[in-house]
Amino acid sequence: MLIPNIEVFQERRETFLNKLDGKAAIIPGANLVRHHADCEYPFRQDSNFWYLTGFDEPDSVALFLSHRPRGERFILFVSPKDVISEVWNGFKWGLEGAEKEFKADKAHSINDLKDLLPNYLSGADELIFSIGKYPKIEKIVLEIFSQQLESSSRIGVGAKSIKSPEVYLNEMRLIKSDFEVNRMREAIQISAEAHELVRESISSKKNERQIQGLIEGFFLEKGARGPAYNSIVASGDNACILHYTSNNSKLKKEDLLLVDAGCSLHDYYNGDITRTIPIGGKFSKEQKIIYEIVLEAQKNAIKSAVKGSDSNRVHYVALEILVEGLKDIGLLRGNTEDIIDNGLYKHLYMHRTGHWLGLDVHDVGAYRMGDYEVPLKNGMILTVEPGIYISDRIPVPAGQPCIDEKWKGIGIRIEDDILVHDEHPDILSKSALKEISDIEF
Ligand code: GLY
Ligand code: MN
Ligand code: MN
Repeated sequence: MLIPNIEVFQERRETFLNKLDGKAAIIPGANLVRHHADCEYPFRQDSNFWYLTGFDEPDSVALFLSHRPRGERFILFVSPKDVISEVWNGFKWGLEGAEKEFKADKAHSINDLKDLLPNYLSGADELIFSIGKYPKIEKIVLEIFSQQLESSSRIGVGAKSIKSPEVYLNEMRLIKSDFEVNRMREAIQISAEAHELVRESISSKKNERQIQGLIEGFFLEKGARGPAYNSIVASGDNACILHYTSNNSKLKKEDLLLVDAGCSLHDYYNGDITRTIPIGGKFSKEQKIIYEIVLEAQKNAIKSAVKGSDSNRVHYVALEILVEGLKDIGLLRGNTEDIIDNGLYKHLYMHRTGHWLGLDVHDVGAYRMGDYEVPLKNGMILTVEPGIYISDRIPVPAGQPCIDEKWKGIGIRIEDDILVHDEHPDILSKSALKEISDIEF
């Protein structure tokens, strides 16, 4: 049983409670999810619940009561201790542990939530709860809310609205503290080392599944929980399937191997890295041409990921270079601006160039607010991951050139994790090599 760094969570709760200013937040944890028969998927805590509590057990609910005096503001509902259940399913902190180790002002059994919640919520101006995500808890919260609405219409006291916690938490989670940056560095470093291991071992591997085993075994060996998402190990044309996770094809020397994999640490911080390497050690002429275009796009997009820029600008820097490169080799034709404005490149590049990265792989936080692009700030972490995927799957748009057979089956993505840092983007995943001279053998 790991006790996380408790001061970090206390500090976050303090910030959250200050933002709440008279409101009461109900933040549920995750439940176990059935896989088959009576077996469950490995437990994965809800990211917002984790961010505020560091408590890693299923069936828990946290309350943040900014309308209450200090010492009554952080309440945890958890599974009570039960010797028999612990014999079957392992250690639980129980009410005492929730108070002593996790610093709840008061802990209760989760079985008492329905009875105790009305009293805790009374006196709050507004309720903070995420509608549509936690059906069991939502039923209880809505019942209390409707009673409060009724009483507020009669006696003028009680919450009159429900707002989403994301309004506060997304903004907090988007900027990583020094503590979080260090955790991210560790997750990304382990992930980068796994990619290096793939390249060093590729010549002795025969199947995509062996590469998956190598990567995920390495994550566990390094003390991570496991993969942050289903590892993508895609050889040849499989790489043109963006979320390919079957990972069961034979490796062919003349193909490329695209690996998109990252680990998740025990406190849920994640890496997300993609490398594409020649299985036989040398790029073919066509593979090399496409790789060089993607690499050029990626390096320039990374350069643009600095304070004051924004994620749309990063995307457009990559997009312009990809389109120009594809025009040069006859896979696109026309005016670059027209191609981009009309999406005439989307049969070859069909995703955005990156996303926020943190406790969630596609982490929370706004990219834009209507027409306003959210500017990059120090402490944000984003991925930069352009690619080119050449196959028959998406029809060539009218007016664009047919694809010569020699290009088909080439799928390349290069993905790094970037900490925004004044003028110089900090490439957290840089130890996973990507220059052609470094990855050919
Ligand atoms: N591995 C998921 C992504 O790159 O977004
Ligand atoms: Mn990504
Ligand atoms: Mn990825």
